[in-house]
Amino acid sequence: MITLREMAAAKINLYLHVTGRRANGYHELDSWVVFAEIGDTLEAAKSDALRVEIQGVYAHSVPKDDNSIIKAARALAAHYKVVQGATITLTKRLPVAAGIGGGSADAAAALRLLVRLWGLAPRAGELEALAASLGADVPVCLRSESLYMNGVGEVLSDAPVCTGWPVVLVNPGKALSTPQVFGAREGDFSSAMRHPSEFASLGGGVQFLRQAKNDLQPAAVSLVPEVEMVLAALDVQGGCLMSRMSGSGATCYGIYTTQEDARQAATRLAAAYPEWWVQESKLK
Ligand code: C5P
Repeated sequence: MITLREMAAAKINLYLHVTGRRANGYHELDSWVVFAEIGDTLEAAKSDALRVEIQGVYAHSVPKDDNSIIKAARALAAHYKVVQGATITLTKRLPVAAGIGGGSADAAAALRLLVRLWGLAPRAGELEALAASLGADVPVCLRSESLYMNGVGEVLSDAPVCTGWPVVLVNPGKALSTPQVFGAREGDFSSAMRHPSEFASLGGGVQFLRQAKNDLQPAAVSLVPEVEMVLAALDVQGGCLMSRMSGSGATCYGIYTTQEDARQAATRLAAAYPEWWVQESKLK
């Protein structure tokens, strides 16, 4: 039996500005979204019915029915009137409700996987629209590459290639609900950043990022104060160029000068804070 495989890479919002609010309550965003080499994996084989099996360290935090993969598969099957099923195996490595896209990346990977498995030929924009109907972060996760994200998540444009940037991701082990974080946000809206098309070096990219912020960070800190501890812990490691929270948190990223710096930082953080989720990676 043929088994197909897709990676659901961890999403990182290098910056995230909340620029407005729509009448339906959704927020207008300006964000630079990148993806790490780590993530969940999805495998699929043809089958009569739709089944999702879940394994991996965070398997227990994914609902068996009604998870983002099942929703994506049902939406895709309904749209293209697919009668076949699929057995999808999810290896869940990313913490959930963590600001790194977990459920959205899984939904997007399920779409990519099932388009291949079922031999579908979506017309231009069709899959993107389906992705947007599944959640604000699903379109960016569908492409899973460095992109500026605007609108409520559906407007995507090319962002600088940052392949190989050394990063460490840390989550303090506390779930954060995205609507709750948006609800706790206070203050004015920010303006959008200018959107450079490239940087000559990692240093240039970091210099640009220092002029931006994550507007959801103060709200997340008010709900989970450990976020500040995580940021401080990332900052004091040798070679740390900057640290910031991703998405609605509580996962934070640190960018390091070299991969060796990132490796050492992750080793020390994992030893000092055994209850935290700590991952060394690089951007893809
Ligand atoms: O679309 P998704 O289910 O990922 O969004 C979760 C929640 O986060 C929304 O119900 C909304 O409260 C909030 N959100 C928002 N503006 C966005 C994205 C999400 O207010 N652009």
